[in-house]
Amino acid sequence: MNQNDNQTALIMIFGATGDLAKRKLFPSLYRLFEKNKLSDKFAVIGVARRPLTNEEFQQSIKDSVESAIEKEDRIEEFASHFYYHSHDVTDSDSYAALKNMANELDNRYELNGNRIFYLAMAPEFFGPIALHLKSDGLTDVTGFKRLVIEKPFGHDLESAKELNNQIRTAFSEDEVYRIDHYLGKEMVQNIEVIRFANAIFEPLWNNRFISNIQVTSSETLGVEERGRYYEKSGALRDMVQNHMIQMVALLAMEPPIRLNTEEIRSEKVKVLRALRPIEGEEIHKYFARGQYGEGTLNNQSLPAYRQETMVDPSSNTETFVAGKLMIDNFRWAGVPFYIRTGKRMETKSTKIVIQFKDIPMNLYYQTEQQLKPNLLVIHIQPEEGITLHLNAKRAGTGMEATPIKLNYANKGIDGLNTPEAYEKLLYDCMRGDATNFTHWDEVALSWSFTDKISAVWENTKDESFPNYASGTMGPKAADELLEQDGFFWWPVTNLDVDNC
Ligand code: BG6
Repeated sequence: MNQNDNQTALIMIFGATGDLAKRKLFPSLYRLFEKNKLSDKFAVIGVARRPLTNEEFQQSIKDSVESAIEKEDRIEEFASHFYYHSHDVTDSDSYAALKNMANELDNRYELNGNRIFYLAMAPEFFGPIALHLKSDGLTDVTGFKRLVIEKPFGHDLESAKELNNQIRTAFSEDEVYRIDHYLGKEMVQNIEVIRFANAIFEPLWNNRFISNIQVTSSETLGVEERGRYYEKSGALRDMVQNHMIQMVALLAMEPPIRLNTEEIRSEKVKVLRALRPIEGEEIHKYFARGQYGEGTLNNQSLPAYRQETMVDPSSNTETFVAGKLMIDNFRWAGVPFYIRTGKRMETKSTKIVIQFKDIPMNLYYQTEQQLKPNLLVIHIQPEEGITLHLNAKRAGTGMEATPIKLNYANKGIDGLNTPEAYEKLLYDCMRGDATNFTHWDEVALSWSFTDKISAVWENTKDESFPNYASGTMGPKAADELLEQDGFFWWPVTNLDVDNC
């Protein structure tokens, strides 16, 4: 997969005092270091506005790792690789100082001129930083240079194009690593393996045998401190444009001719090109939006979205989206891919349910109910695993059928949790494997799909908002979306691996 084994690099993290760096990036780098997946030849420059000494910065690294990981034997050694640069993103002198520091560390740690620039800060700075990195000479290196960029990649297609143009003046497409952290999740990566490494699924993976696919990603958290960002984003931009559409692409893509970055991305792009555009009045038939009101979860009373900090008290922003995606190609014609995602829902869960068509003739009966359809459930989080729902004979003298479940719980390496998405993505980037990052074509196609929906939603106030209580599975309209097709949402709580 375009990999080389050289994990030597200078990593510059822009936004090093931010939440993402502390919660995800530093602990993930530490885990790689501890597993010897990061050679001793690495150095990190933390870049942020506030003044800090190297010692203070190193202390913050230790604090962040210690709060995330229980055993951190090599923390002193690890933290000694970190340096700090107090930066003004608009000032060339500041980039010049950063360049000197980078060159010096490059020599000291023998980093072969390899550089990773990680942009983990407010998106309005992504473009200007990329331009400065080039004009101020930080990208003039003898080794590789890579740009890792967090979401959101633009606010719509127009702004994404503009950002992409700015970035591309300094980095070529194959040097750009656009993060979609769902692509780093163990079970999201497993979709391909389940599909393409088993003889029993792929022959059934089409509109002859699958009746519908349901992808749910529900959260219990509300908007927290991110009201300002979320008001402009909403669930459509925050979750659907990226994570949800990416999961659909992995479920729907054709088998690639090879398991390499180019081939996999190219198959995903084809799916996105086949995605039926939904616009104008049609949107009401294909999509439902919601906004959480007050409610209770685990006996705790929760405020409505409109009462959250930095949120307009009459906000029209959606905190929930359900949609029906149709992929108009030979394999999927007629099979709805239902997606739903929302904040302040009943449970934190990401699951994919593949519902197979009923058998042509039902010879068996079950007391009080019809035979259950076969389901393949892929549990993405919090539990990881696969469940296959079948029917079998109920033990005893009769010939009655009963639903059974074949279950696989993924306990990860050594029975511990599987590696955090960021750990895998950072490692991939160090090795030059961009497979689990989004290509510009994917980003552009996703935006052009969701832009048509936001165009309608932003211009029509939803008078029913708030239309679901916190602690529930979303508005009634989301259920009706499936009912009109004769389906219903498989309840995510009953499908848990541990319940089987
Ligand atoms: C992020 C969104 O991309 O994904 C957040 O910006 C959301 O709003 C998060 O909470 C969900 O990620 P996960 O890994 O907890 O499912």
